[in-house]
Amino acid sequence: RTVPAVIVAIDGPSGTGKSSTSKAVAAQLGLSYLDTGAQYRAITWWMVSNGIDIGDPTAVAAVAGKPEIVSGTDPSAPTITVDGTDVSGPIRSQEVTSKVSAVSAVPEVRTRITELQRSYAAAAETGIVVEGRDIGTTVLPDADLKIFLTASPEARAARRSGELKGADVQATREALIKRDAADSGRKASPLAKADDAVEVDTTDLTLQQVIECVVTLVEEKRAAG
Ligand code: DC
Repeated sequence: RTVPAVIVAIDGPSGTGKSSTSKAVAAQLGLSYLDTGAQYRAITWWMVSNGIDIGDPTAVAAVAGKPEIVSGTDPSAPTITVDGTDVSGPIRSQEVTSKVSAVSAVPEVRTRITELQRSYAAAAETGIVVEGRDIGTTVLPDADLKIFLTASPEARAARRSGELKGADVQATREALIKRDAADSGRKASPLAKADDAVEVDTTDLTLQQVIECVVTLVEEKRAAG
């Protein structure tokens, strides 16, 4: 192999276009793609399905190692399974969305999922785009390029309600702000911008413009070696 694998970390709150951007950048550059939020959602789905009391961090910690989570890293068809069952649909339910912040705040859950994420990054042949909340700060602090996406709360709520066809913008905005506050305020590896991350405010940009911006940044990094 002549070109070394490139590791790209993309972090930021929800509704900034993180997933759409990450998938498109990976597809354009021939890289693998990892949705780490989907992994936290998958472990949350398993906890809910098995009747674990999400409000009890000790109960959550005790079973954090049980479910086997496998992510498909093809950016054109990302998949996720728990103990062999495809949970791509169920992990997007309102119930999972409302419980995922509590589950992902438990240190034993984070340690387990972080190890899994690092193994995917190490296995990527040409490189990988990893999207999440703490990729640049904690999971892959040596990433070749770190991007931190932001957008105004209004823009984020509008995008999310557009995705969730017919959802109430005001209710979506409140739920989203609440989840971001929980994700930013937790003790264990909170949502944060790494010191060496490039911040991109997407409020007034189209998805295509954000994708082009990130692709250019990756190409510049590669050229600089
Ligand atoms: O990106 P998403 O909305 O699918 O993420 C779901 C939740 O997972 C998010 O509210 C916080 C958690 N998460 C995390 O704690 N760390 C990550 N690297 C990614 C997601």
